[in-house]
Amino acid sequence: MLPDLRYPLPIAGALYFLCLKYDNIYKRYQAVYSPYKLADTPEFQTPIDLKLTSGSVPAWLNGIMYRVGPGKFNIKQTDGSTFSIKHAFDGLPFMHRFEINGSAQTLKYNSRLLAGTVERNIREKTYKGLVFFGHVPTVSFFKWLQEAYYRVTIMVLKIDSNKGDSEPDSQCVGVTASTNFPLPSDCAKEDRVLVSKTDANILQKIHADTLVPEKLFTYTSYDKKLQGQFSAAHHQFDPETKEIFNFTLSFAPLPRMIVFSTSEDGKAKVLADITHRSDKSRFQAPYIHSLWLTKNYIIIPESPLVYQDKGLNLLLNGSVLSSMTWVTNAPTYFHVISRKGGGLIASIPTTGFFTFHVANGFDTIDKNGDEILSLDCAAFSNGNIMHQLNKFGGLHSKQAYDAPTPDTINGMSFPPHRQTCFGDMKRFTVNLTQQKVINTEIICCNMDFPRYNQLYCFTDHQFLYGCELKGFTEKTDESSYLVKVNLSTKSGTRYGQEGYNCSEPIFVPSPNATTEDDGILLSLVNNAECCFLVVIDATNMKELARFTIGQFSAVTFHGSFVDHEFKNINLN
Ligand SMILES: *[C@@H]1O[C@H](CO)[C@@H](O)[C@H](O)[C@H]1NC(C)=O
Ligand SMILES: *[C@@H]1O[C@H](CO)[C@@H](O)[C@H](O)[C@H]1NC(C)=O
Ligand SMILES: *[C@@H]1O[C@H](CO)[C@@H](O)[C@H](O)[C@H]1NC(C)=O
Ligand SMILES: *[C@@H]1O[C@H](CO)[C@@H](O)[C@H](O)[C@H]1NC(C)=O
Ligand SMILES: *[C@@H]1O[C@H](CO)[C@@H](O)[C@H](O)[C@H]1NC(C)=O
Ligand SMILES: *[C@@H]1O[C@H](CO)[C@@H](O)[C@H](O)[C@H]1NC(C)=O
Ligand SMILES: *[C@@H]1O[C@H](CO)[C@@H](O)[C@H](O)[C@H]1NC(C)=O
Ligand SMILES: [Fe+2]
Repeated sequence: MLPDLRYPLPIAGALYFLCLKYDNIYKRYQAVYSPYKLADTPEFQTPIDLKLTSGSVPAWLNGIMYRVGPGKFNIKQTDGSTFSIKHAFDGLPFMHRFEINGSAQTLKYNSRLLAGTVERNIREKTYKGLVFFGHVPTVSFFKWLQEAYYRVTIMVLKIDSNKGDSEPDSQCVGVTASTNFPLPSDCAKEDRVLVSKTDANILQKIHADTLVPEKLFTYTSYDKKLQGQFSAAHHQFDPETKEIFNFTLSFAPLPRMIVFSTSEDGKAKVLADITHRSDKSRFQAPYIHSLWLTKNYIIIPESPLVYQDKGLNLLLNGSVLSSMTWVTNAPTYFHVISRKGGGLIASIPTTGFFTFHVANGFDTIDKNGDEILSLDCAAFSNGNIMHQLNKFGGLHSKQAYDAPTPDTINGMSFPPHRQTCFGDMKRFTVNLTQQKVINTEIICCNMDFPRYNQLYCFTDHQFLYGCELKGFTEKTDESSYLVKVNLSTKSGTRYGQEGYNCSEPIFVPSPNATTEDDGILLSLVNNAECCFLVVIDATNMKELARFTIGQFSAVTFHGSFVDHEFKNINLN
């Protein structure tokens, strides 16, 4: 079938010849990723009522946890073939809702696929210009050309030509779940707002109870100036001023970062428009997944993990990952932006590292009156992790993809080694007067998905909670434990056992808490038999209660918790 060519075919032809200049990594991706089949998660559109499986829930724990993650990987197409998505990050997203009633000791659970129109377009083969994080579909040459053509028209020329492109479930948006998110002023005011977010400049409003997708919008709906293809899936939030901080990033025609805040009423304010570092050097568009906020500053980490070709590769092959490159021996910069006056204050270099997830950050004044920033994050010393994520949370196979002679692609090890640990939780101390990183310290090795008691944000607090990866050995299966770290002693306490895959823990303080760790952690755990919700005493990391959800796996990245009045308790 000939595409509806509103723009001349020669554009597509020219793109193809440009593409031939690149390394043919497409086939290598296919070879490495295609043996893996990822399992689908069943949908529970109608809520199910669950009773405690064991233990007891604190009577004060009443509220809703939302978690989001990839759920659908295998789509039966009308011609009988199956479109199998081979990268865990690219599964069509599901939102999961867990309503906990501590006084009744019950749990109500429902879940929903957030991208029904994408699924339908894949099923009926009517999709146009799909973009995945790492998955590269096997398609004919003609389909490849057609897809590249549509990506150019959709992403660059901003002409969306998908069937049902205005449907609220026509995009995959499923990395973070945020409650009480300010909506653009053209949206009707509502008491209970749930929004799903990802690393692209796109947000999806979802019904807080039924989880039905209701609207898609971009940050441009808040302010015309907020243009750009990318952003960070994790924003920052000041509970006191109720402002949200974020940025948009364009990779073409020139890399540019626009840092902004949105207030409670949905008004956006541009704080910095960055095209150069503070030393006037230009940067390549980096991949950024989260940023820090302190009382006075916004700090954006610019790692040497960049879109190497102004996004051309992404446009051609529809894979974000194949467009990324790790620049060996290049520094990571902390871009420090003032919350008060706005503007880029400094771009401070340190030894190159990459982070998905920042933890807390705070600013203090030392005895000489100099400003010191303390910035915690889960740091990887290179970009190899990017190729290791393709079966995150997926089924284990003893035929490890540890190839005997690993090579590199774009500065990252390939085929990837099996991931044996996360990065290290580190604290970077920055002297803002000197514009220098004065100390780098390991808080805890092998830790990611950091969360903490949000009543202590922007302060020199005591405890971080997160996940720890226990690598696969001949004897033991790969597992992920929960870990609590005392930031002063750097000692850790753990929860878990072999075969448990614990997801990011969400801290909920007890109502009359007087200490930082007086509260519980919520985590969704998968093991070989089932998926269950666990409530853990955060003071000693002992299990308090468990609800079995069902005989399946539900992979989720992140979540948020609101109390029974829908007030934010721990927000992502
Ligand atoms: C993109 O896909 C084309 C067609 O399969 C392939 O020839 C080319 O090498 C790919 N480019 C990259 C960078 O993977
Ligand atoms: C919890 O369950 C009890 C008993 O069914 C009910 O009376 C109460 O309203 C519920 N609490 C919340 C916050 O829904
Ligand atoms: C940050 O902004 C981008 C759009 O620029 C959006 O896609 C992303 O979801 C936002 N993240 C948060 C957490 O607000
Ligand atoms: C846990 O996740 C890892 C990969 O992240 C996977 O290899 C393992 O099989 C998973 N285990 C279960 C029980 O799901
Ligand atoms: C920060 O830098 C200033 C200026 O060089 C210096 O006087 C001060 O001692 C430094 N503070 C710390 C904690 O390093
Ligand atoms: C954490 O470490 C500090 C400093 O050693 C200590 O005072 C505190 O009791 C520790 N807390 C816990 C819960 O271990
Ligand atoms: C918290 O304190 C209030 C007021 O003293 C009391 O009514 C309530 O029962 C306490 N809640 C818990 C969970 O201890
Ligand atoms: Fe994340």
